Amino acid sequence: PPVSPSICGLPLKYVSLVTLAVQNAALAIVMHYSRISTPPELSYSPAAAVLLNELIKGAISFCMALYITATAASDHPRYSGLQSPLKKFTSVFSCVCCEIFSPDCWKLSIPAVLYVIQNSLQFVAISNLPVATYQITYQMKILTTAAFTVALLRKKLSTSKWLSLFFLAIGVGIVQIQSATSNTPAKDMPVGSAHDFHIHTMDPLKGFGAVTAACFTSGLAGVYFEMVLKNSKADLWVRNVQLSLFSLIPAILPILYNPPRSTANGFIADLFKHFGGWAWATVGIQVFGGLVTAIVIKYSDNILKGFATSLAIVLSFLASVALFNFHISWGFVIGSTTVLTATWMYNQPPGREPISIVLTTSS
Ligand code: C5P
Repeated sequence: PPVSPSICGLPLKYVSLVTLAVQNAALAIVMHYSRISTPPELSYSPAAAVLLNELIKGAISFCMALYITATAASDHPRYSGLQSPLKKFTSVFSCVCCEIFSPDCWKLSIPAVLYVIQNSLQFVAISNLPVATYQITYQMKILTTAAFTVALLRKKLSTSKWLSLFFLAIGVGIVQIQSATSNTPAKDMPVGSAHDFHIHTMDPLKGFGAVTAACFTSGLAGVYFEMVLKNSKADLWVRNVQLSLFSLIPAILPILYNPPRSTANGFIADLFKHFGGWAWATVGIQVFGGLVTAIVIKYSDNILKGFATSLAIVLSFLASVALFNFHISWGFVIGSTTVLTATWMYNQPPGREPISIVLTTSS
């Protein structure tokens, strides 16, 4: 990976890793709350949230690309020769647009479509599973990411890494079984305010189906994005704009296919009906997460990203106990401990892996 810049003396690589962990935990909680706190007929449209996410992310990435190009160009004699600020801006603007619409921009169309599907599936999953169960099951994306890393990036995984993936699958299985056999249909309510919140009936099977599919899109899209980013010189922010542009098509299609019921307020107002503070918070955290994910993929890789999400599990698990009255069962404790141990094992540097330590000491 490229050399990571630093923020206040701390490498951006690690700052982005910790930020992503907190973002992951916050997203699961806020998104879940935004879906369960209102009855279905008064809840916002997930399709509108997915579209808004891409629009905002694309706009921020475009501004970042302009800023970076302007900073890099400021030393160039051709640029500094331009007197008027408008001419300077036009020069940078056209340069960024040329990069965005470069002949290889179509490569981003594949992860773009996959990410839109994944972002939509996340809404289905989080509406039908308790936050902690969702987070643990979503860890299966480490497995799919590893499989796609081996297949697409031609990386080799050690025995210890494969073993840890096996433990991960077992851990997720334990969590799934205990959550399916406990309270079905599950009722999930914030603590201490029963009369303020609507009992939301969840369908765990639908939730698990959605989260499993999201694991596949996450693994494939993440590894594909890494492949495109690391095999070309194009700037990260330019790639992100391309990603958002291609995402707009699959994000708009479901809205056109199933348009909001028309009222006198107009199409946009109908689309964003019931879009309250929690919906905006969900979109804001998603946008932030998308930008941080891109930085993590650039300066480290998808595997380190998996480590960040396992940290997020611990945070959201503790928050679930406090906020959503989540009950800790032995099945959940054993399953999540297996997942966390497997994640730790997977992230051990070569030579320090538990299995190689055992082999070295015994020989
Ligand atoms: O769960 P996972 O880590 O795969 O989620 C990645 C998230 O980051 C997705 O919501 C995706 O839309 C977003 N992303 C992004 N820009 C990138 C890479 C990912 O917005 N360059």
